[in-house]
Amino acid sequence: MAIKSKVRKIGILTGGGDAPGLNAVIRAAVHSAHQRGWEVVGIREGFEGLLKPGLARTLLREDVAGILRTGGTILGTTNRGNPFDYPAGAKGRPNRDLSGLAVKNFRKMGLGALIAIGGDGSLSIAQKLYRKGLPVVGVPKTIDNDLSETVVTFGFDTAVSTATDALDKLHSTAQSHQRVMVIEVMGRYAGWIALHSGIAGNADVILIPEIPFTLESVCAKIKERYRYGPKFAIVVAAEGAAPRGEGLITKGKKESGREHPRLGGVAEFLSREIQSRTGRESRSLVLGHLQRGGEPTTFDRLLATRLGTAAVDLVDQGRFGQMTALKPPNIVAVPIARAIAKMKRVHPGSDVVRSARSLGISFGD
Ligand code: F6P
Repeated sequence: MAIKSKVRKIGILTGGGDAPGLNAVIRAAVHSAHQRGWEVVGIREGFEGLLKPGLARTLLREDVAGILRTGGTILGTTNRGNPFDYPAGAKGRPNRDLSGLAVKNFRKMGLGALIAIGGDGSLSIAQKLYRKGLPVVGVPKTIDNDLSETVVTFGFDTAVSTATDALDKLHSTAQSHQRVMVIEVMGRYAGWIALHSGIAGNADVILIPEIPFTLESVCAKIKERYRYGPKFAIVVAAEGAAPRGEGLITKGKKESGREHPRLGGVAEFLSREIQSRTGRESRSLVLGHLQRGGEPTTFDRLLATRLGTAAVDLVDQGRFGQMTALKPPNIVAVPIARAIAKMKRVHPGSDVVRSARSLGISFGD
């Protein structure tokens, strides 16, 4: 393969919450870079690794052997450690801007480019570093599927499969006990995981942040199920779903150094309200981080691999400040700035929502 760029050594990091497929991207980028004769340096613990360059290690072929199918990230990750807003450590002390140090360390390591694999938070940091002069290429990652400019992010398909599997398993116990089972799935401010797993897993009610619900409407659907249908019900609630006119249910205040507050509690709230309003026994379950674990599906392995090799192509072409994205049938380049400008959320009028409604699934609205 002809060498087009002057790059000889690149860095790669994974930032934010982990997602199945991260290792597949790392492996693909390492192989693809090695084909060009480049050295790849694995930067550990996300962008924090640029502040701790001693943790960085050259990645050899043997370091990525066998990781195509593994969950997690061999580089480690964090959703803290933003160099532009770095926690001071001591309580009450203001966060500091250490981005200058990150740039300095990047140069000291002799890197010609940085591949940053992350969601909206990590890609926002990547974009800021790019504006500061760092040659950055982004790779979109998140189980939430809420990044714009790419049809889907890797990790989403695996998370939906895990949630669907959980729904399949909940059916038998719900039926045996004639209970209402309420399952809370991840997704932050977007309802993609709830919507897709809810349809694939045959839920009766799907609650998503994009369609505020009322308890009256949710309970009406459940009563109807017990009156005319099988005497059990399955409710899937996205962690960001909220009753009309009310705010998100969070786990305390936003911790320092985190971009978002931690969401959680909607399933327990719903289960309690459903039981008291319908008189039907209800149980809640939070699927939580199971959705981020495990082996990536075939779809995610392939997508992650394509995104990883495409990122190295972009470095080779010197197209920095760009992110690899899936625009079927191709992987294309889009400006990182455009991808982070707007969150990709479920459109309430989309065909998937309409299809669910045609099946009789309630959105609680
Ligand atoms: O963005 C991925 C995600 O798993 C969200 O769905 C969830 O709200 C959040 O991260 C959980 O973050 P943490 O890893 O801090 O628990």
